[in-house]
This record gives sequence, C-alpha cells and structure tokens, in this order.
Amino acid sequence: MNLYGRHFLTLRDFTASEIEYLLDLSAKLKEMKKKRIAHRYLEGYQIALLFEKTSTRTRCAFEVAAHDLGMDCTYLDPASSQMGKKESIADTARVLGRMFDGIEYRGFEQAKVEELARYAGVPVWNGLTNEYHPTQMLADMLTIREHIGELKGKKLVYMGDARYNMGNSLMIVCAKLGLNFVACTHPDYFPGSELVAYCQEEAEKSGGSVTLTDQVTAVSGADVIYTDVWVSMGEPSRVWKERIEALSPYKVTSQIMQMAGEQAIFMHCLPAFHDLNTETAKEIHEQFGLSELEVADDVFEGEQSVVFDEAENRMHTIKAVLLATLQSNGEL
Ligand code: CP
Ligand code: NVA
Repeated sequence: MNLYGRHFLTLRDFTASEIEYLLDLSAKLKEMKKKRIAHRYLEGYQIALLFEKTSTRTRCAFEVAAHDLGMDCTYLDPASSQMGKKESIADTARVLGRMFDGIEYRGFEQAKVEELARYAGVPVWNGLTNEYHPTQMLADMLTIREHIGELKGKKLVYMGDARYNMGNSLMIVCAKLGLNFVACTHPDYFPGSELVAYCQEEAEKSGGSVTLTDQVTAVSGADVIYTDVWVSMGEPSRVWKERIEALSPYKVTSQIMQMAGEQAIFMHCLPAFHDLNTETAKEIHEQFGLSELEVADDVFEGEQSVVFDEAENRMHTIKAVLLATLQSNGEL
C-alpha cells in the first residue's frame, strides 16, 4: 500500500483497503505513543494548518501529530491570512506549496479544498468542509473497532442532520467498509440522492447497506448510535427554530439507547449540546427553554458513551494520514 503524495479530501477517493490500511497504521502509531516509543519519521518537514472555521480537536490533533512525527506546523486563521480576501485560493495554494510539505484546510465549500489541492503541488488534507469530514471518519472507525471489533456487518444509526458533513461522510465510510448505515431522521435531513446512490453501489460491493428512515424504531439492534449538532458551523442562527422542530424526535435519549440495546455504543464527533455549560446552549435555553439538544446529558455521560475515546483517536488517525501521505518509503 502506498499513499505517498496523495491528497485526503473525501473518502470517496479511497478504496476500502486504503482506508483499512490507514486504520491499521493509526493503531500502530497509537500503540507507539502509549509506549512512549519515539516516531519522529518526518523530521524537518513543515506543514500549514489553514482554518476558516473554528476547531479544538482537529487543530490540536494536527499539531500534536505533527510534533510527534518531528514536524513543525504553522497555524493560519481567517483573520491572519490573505486567502479569499486579497489573494485567490489558487495563488495561496501555489505560495504555501513552495514553503510547506503539506497543507490542512478547514472551511466552507468542498470546491475550495479541491481547488487548493489542484494548485498546491503538495498533499492537501481536508480538516472539515460543509460536505465532508474525512479525518473524523478514521477516528470513528478506529473507535468502533476498539470497542466492538470487526467493522463489517455492524449497524450504525445516525440520528439528526444527515445531509451535512457528518451524515455524508459516515454514510460513505460505512458503505465502503461493509457496515449497515441507517440515517434515522426527518426526511428533509436525508443525505442527497446522488451521494445515496453512490453509497448504495459501494455498499453492494462491500456487503454493507444504506437505509434512510424517519422511524426511530430503526435504532433497534444498533451497534452504534451516532449524532452531531443540529446547526453546523457557518449556518445562520435563524435555522435553529426549524431544526429543533424537525429534529427533536431524533434526539438521542436514554429511551433511544434502551431501544437500541445494551450492546450499542454512543458516538458524537463533538462539540455536543448536552448541558447548559456553553454560551450557545445558554442562548438556546433562553430562546427555546431547552437544556439539551441532540443528546441527553445522561447518555453523553453514560456508560455506553465513547465520545472521548473518539476525540483522542482524532490524533492517532490524523498522524497516520500525515505519515502515509508524506513518507515516501511507506512502512514504519
Ligand atoms: N470533531 C471536530 O472536528 O472537532 P473540532 O471542530 O473541535 O475540530
Ligand atoms: N457538523 C458539524 C461538525 C463539527 C465537527 C459542523 O460542521 O459544525
């Protein structure tokens, strides 16, 4: 397996074996980190982290992974670069490509990260766009593997806004790796039909499946119950009302977890709205009187929740992506 020089923009571009290779590499790197075995394979490399949206996990995962691999990184936020305001994406890409060995980009349209990749001349990694969140998928699959083993045949039920980056990306990775993916939500929030058709074809090859339903009874027998925020970064605050109305029946409560069964784990890419300890939560509470949204606090904090293992795995899996795409001789 050789992923040297490849971009990492969406898992649509990767085969099941390539994704499995990255998961295996992540597990090895995780073990090395736990045992404090140095793995500075990319000393002298420089990477740029471009963030047009905020981040805790993705930014820290890239920075820690880069440092563990012996690399240096430069963080650029929207206020501190010329990109988009005084300089086009194509020009920015060609400048950064001359100075850095790879570029991470988090922003809005997928088309932007694709354009960056076309011009950069070095690997570009998607740290989240409106459409996809591919590095999160590796962390999620590694977490499922660690908690419940073999991925093939597992049932993952995604509840909430399934037509955005998380729903789209989970449907792709499940379809490719042979999981049974269920989008359980209001039909207005089903993933787009072109992507569904693509994933159904992929699922046919892998032995997985793709199901869209508005019936919460679909959670029965699930191995994974997954949700994400109902309003994503960059969306206008006026959509809160319609989201709360449409998606409240799909909130992950202890009843939902009971209906799923005790084998089920609860996952969330984070950040999550499960209590009133954030500014946004307080504003929503004032406006709508709700103290939790997509997930109940007792589920988030409960025994079936693996959300912090999942967050940790962002770092190990991003490290695998950096190593696989930057190291020319492949293996550890
Ligand atoms: N899950 C995730 O991408 O988190 P951040 O927005 O904090 O990077
Ligand atoms: N759907 C969320 C994911 C955050 C990791 C967002 O785009 O804000």
